[in-house]
Amino acid sequence: MHPAIRLHEITKTYGDFTAVNSFNLEVERGTVFGLLGPNGAGKTTLIKILTTLMRPTSGDAFVENYSVTTAGKNVRSVIGVVPQENNLDRYLTARENLILHARLHGMPSSEYNRRIDELLEMTGLSGRQKDFPDTFSGGMQRRLIVARALVHEPRVLFLDEPTTGLDPQSRRGVWDYIRGLRKTMTVFLTTHYMDEADMLCDRIMIMDHGVSLADGTAAQLKEAFSRAHVYEVEFRENSEQYEKVIRALPFVRNVEKIEETYRITLESERYIKQMMDALSGAEIRKICLKEPTLEDVFISLTGEKIRE
Ligand SMILES: Nc1ncnc2c1ncn2[C@@H]1O[C@H](COP(=O)(O)OP(=O)(O)OP(=O)(O)O)[C@@H](O)[C@H]1O
Ligand SMILES: [Mg+2]
Repeated sequence: MHPAIRLHEITKTYGDFTAVNSFNLEVERGTVFGLLGPNGAGKTTLIKILTTLMRPTSGDAFVENYSVTTAGKNVRSVIGVVPQENNLDRYLTARENLILHARLHGMPSSEYNRRIDELLEMTGLSGRQKDFPDTFSGGMQRRLIVARALVHEPRVLFLDEPTTGLDPQSRRGVWDYIRGLRKTMTVFLTTHYMDEADMLCDRIMIMDHGVSLADGTAAQLKEAFSRAHVYEVEFRENSEQYEKVIRALPFVRNVEKIEETYRITLESERYIKQMMDALSGAEIRKICLKEPTLEDVFISLTGEKIRE
């Protein structure tokens, strides 16, 4: 394995509050890595440390083998960053924003003009390149920031919630592009969209309170954390009577009624036969296993409570 990103015991405290706690991680080169977690989990703090916008309180991290604490300039030369907040220069046009970025990275105009045309095309902004960002919608600004992060063809791309505020078409556009980058670039992204993580990421990590709770491929996470076995049952008649029967079974953890369907959570899949025996005689219209989604995994790891 050749990690493009390596974190060693990274800790970040704000006063006596610990936002990131002894974090260790290696991200393999040429893969798309997704960091998930509730509001305040520490995702942006980690990205800020990796992109040298913030120093860790202790520990070190390496991007393409450059230390973020001692070789920040080198780190900045090989990375592209889409920050969580839109931070375009409002006194420059869309195209000028991209040109400024290219020049800061020492690109000659012979090289950057073609590249900028390509990126404006990809983000659907060619027609608005002479306009100022303040006249753009939030989604258009977001797309321009994604384009800006790619101008200098970085080796590692950091995206902090790249598609927040984008319409479904633009999200797909960004996804397609990120998928296309795979193999030539390492991508480190955060997102609150489970479908996005599922679609895009080779590896997903779920974090909360500054520590990692789980990581693996989407399939591995679903497999490992689908401890609860959820079945959906619909009866032809007398459903209330059967609901009582089901609720009284000792291995039934939860029963939820959604319109005419009962969503039943069993302690384990081995109780399905016992449940069916208890329901013998019932006219069942439908029974199916509900496959866990990444969102189920996320909620089971991080709880249902809303964060402040
Ligand atoms: N400059 C700061 N000073 C004090 N506390 C901070 C500062 N920046 C972040 N925090 C705290 O650190 C914790 C982690 O914040 P962070 O921005 O990393 O979360 P996040 O996972 O990116 O959340 P979100 O999904 O809302 O973007 C939060 O509790 C936040 O309040
Ligand atoms: Mg954040």
